[in-house]
Amino acid sequence: DVRAPETIVLKSAGRFESVSYREGLFHAQSEASQMVVRMLAPRAGATVIDCAAAPGGKATHLAEMVGERGRVIAVDLNFNGLKNARDLARRLRHHNVEFVCADLTRSAPLAPSSVEYVLLDAPCTGLGTLREHPEIKWRLKPTDPARMAAIQSQMLENASGMVRRGGAIVYSVCSIAPEEGESVVDGFLERHADFAIDHGMAGRDEFREVIDARGFMKTRPDVGGLDGFFAARLIRR
Ligand SMILES: C[S@@+](CC[C@H](N)C(=O)[O-])C[C@H]1O[C@@H](n2cnc3c(N)ncnc32)[C@H](O)[C@@H]1O
Repeated sequence: DVRAPETIVLKSAGRFESVSYREGLFHAQSEASQMVVRMLAPRAGATVIDCAAAPGGKATHLAEMVGERGRVIAVDLNFNGLKNARDLARRLRHHNVEFVCADLTRSAPLAPSSVEYVLLDAPCTGLGTLREHPEIKWRLKPTDPARMAAIQSQMLENASGMVRRGGAIVYSVCSIAPEEGESVVDGFLERHADFAIDHGMAGRDEFREVIDARGFMKTRPDVGGLDGFFAARLIRR
């Protein structure tokens, strides 16, 4: 049961040492991660800014979607993470990705209203990925979701400023904590009357069962075996 046309689901996987892997014919990524990019759904030829891009999984998927005439600007605070993203883009032979090291809590790296599509796949507690990372349960403190929410809100503030009128931003986290998901979006919408939740994706077959009545994508391991992600697509009026 595969949701996206560019996806095949592997039941198990060893180390990728094949020629096809080295030649960049595929990349392994969780299905929920891919759905975040498909929710932004940039048109071919568009420019997209990915505001928290390392290690580059979503940025390279975006590069595939916009095609060679499009452009992806991959931003991250972590310089070494950006180098990994660059290496990934090279292996996958995407020549349409540029890399910018910047702290999005401080400012936006591009001018206001300058791009049509923005992705903010924000740093988070990772509470939706306990299947792969059970150690998170021992590391997290009760105050962490609220601490991350303050960072996420600040990043969303700066990321959203780059969206031009009629453009879209997807805000996502790999967490099921409401503090990091709907609360961040609700707080943002209270401060920004020019943005609204886009319900347009809800009717698509690939999003069946995972978009709620408010238009929020919420995936869970017990529904289709997906990691626990939250994503919202907001459009600027
Ligand atoms: C969930 S990960 C992104 C994963 C990536 N989108 C992908 O699909 O491969 C969050 C990223 O946010 C970055 N980050 C954390 N704080 C940041 C900040 N203040 N400004 C920019 N990036 C930041 C981290 O370095 C990390 O790479």
